[in-house]
Amino acid sequence: TALAGCDDTAETRDRTDPAEGPAGGLRFPTGFGWGAATSAYQIEGATKEDGRGESIWDTFSRTPGRTRNGDTGDVAADHYHRYAEDLDLMRDLGLRSYRFSISWPRIQADGTGAPNQRGLDFYRRLADGLHERGISPMATLFHWDLPQALQDIGGWESRDVAHRFADYADAVFRALGDRIPVWLTINEPKTVVQNGYLEGHHAPGRQDPDAAYLVAHHLQLAHGLAVRALRATGGTGRIGPAFNLHPCYPADDTPAAAEAARLYDGYENRLYLDSALKGSYPADVLADLGPGSRMARGIRDGDLELISAPVDLVAVQYYTPIYVTADGGTTRRWPTSEAQWQQIYPDGMYDILTRVTRDYGPVPLTITENGLPTPDVLADDGTVDDAGRVSFLREHLAAVHRAISDGVPLESYHVWSLLDNFEWAEGYDQRWGLIYVDYPTQRRVPKRSAHWYRQVIAANAL
Ligand code: NOJ
Repeated sequence: TALAGCDDTAETRDRTDPAEGPAGGLRFPTGFGWGAATSAYQIEGATKEDGRGESIWDTFSRTPGRTRNGDTGDVAADHYHRYAEDLDLMRDLGLRSYRFSISWPRIQADGTGAPNQRGLDFYRRLADGLHERGISPMATLFHWDLPQALQDIGGWESRDVAHRFADYADAVFRALGDRIPVWLTINEPKTVVQNGYLEGHHAPGRQDPDAAYLVAHHLQLAHGLAVRALRATGGTGRIGPAFNLHPCYPADDTPAAAEAARLYDGYENRLYLDSALKGSYPADVLADLGPGSRMARGIRDGDLELISAPVDLVAVQYYTPIYVTADGGTTRRWPTSEAQWQQIYPDGMYDILTRVTRDYGPVPLTITENGLPTPDVLADDGTVDDAGRVSFLREHLAAVHRAISDGVPLESYHVWSLLDNFEWAEGYDQRWGLIYVDYPTQRRVPKRSAHWYRQVIAANAL
């Protein structure tokens, strides 16, 4: 890949103070939550079983031309049937935390009404299986698989869908709240806004900026309503949002680039962080959208109070930095991964973690995603040598360690992903897992990175 704007002026940072681990490496805090993450539609398959309804990703992926090779999540990694085997693989890795998502259409086929017991039972078995293996469950309530019936009444453009989400969340809290200690509300609201409603390459495949930011508001509202619903159950569970944050840097040292990067950061990060953690939308973004935008007109009295209901933790997902040019465009500075949107820049991890702590106070943080797609192949000797993923994880974990050393209250880290899975519009071609999935046989093969990660976890050190 061409590295437009590539230069070698990377600032060198002071790396002198990290605690020495047992092997001369970097030791992590005692009890650090080493984890891995997945999501329902990307791994489960079994899209027609046990009363599951249709989601917008069923519709979207079955529409010709929407996904690479026409791939769908119908079978995926067949985790719905193979979860016990997958739990054993997690135990073998030594995971302390496993982040998964609950499929809304398994719980409410049409997005409303009484919860489907068979859907709840699946996640109860999964959570129990995690506890039996000493792994702490962390559940995301919404990882993009909106019930199609709710899309049919307007999807996230409809304010009512935020209330439907709160009802669904309430049903899940009541059924599973005794065994799931940490909840995440909405996975990456920004990606729904940008990929689903601006660029259109994710479900529901719209290209409508005015709708997009109204959707942003309703996703934030849904988050706040779910936090309120959890508190109302009186349970002890903790809850927070899950934001993919992109540090936005000016592409050059002109004032115009600095200003453009600032606004870009508003759309990428502050829109979500400020509303959830400060109770206000960023003024520069609101001004840029204009007073007549559907979002501006959709904000009602009391919404920001709801959206900023106190949370117990904030989940950060870090993949890439963004370099913003004076005209508001973007350029690249670092090598690009197989995912064209991802530049590999470990220091961005440090920058985003320290920034969240600096700007939003000492709220506990968890990293719920970080990872790299690599062109993995199953060799004749039965191994998968993903050396690139090992380097990526090592460098990013070193940045994580540096952030912890500098006072960031980070409690856990989850690799995206436990298993190779359905990478949305990229289908099965992009492999992100620690564990290789041989789709024709559904055989699981831990990659070199899995063996490496197991040792890191065992040593609690890098
Ligand atoms: C973010 C999403 O939450 C996840 O579903 C996706 O697979 C990874 N990033 C990689 O793109």
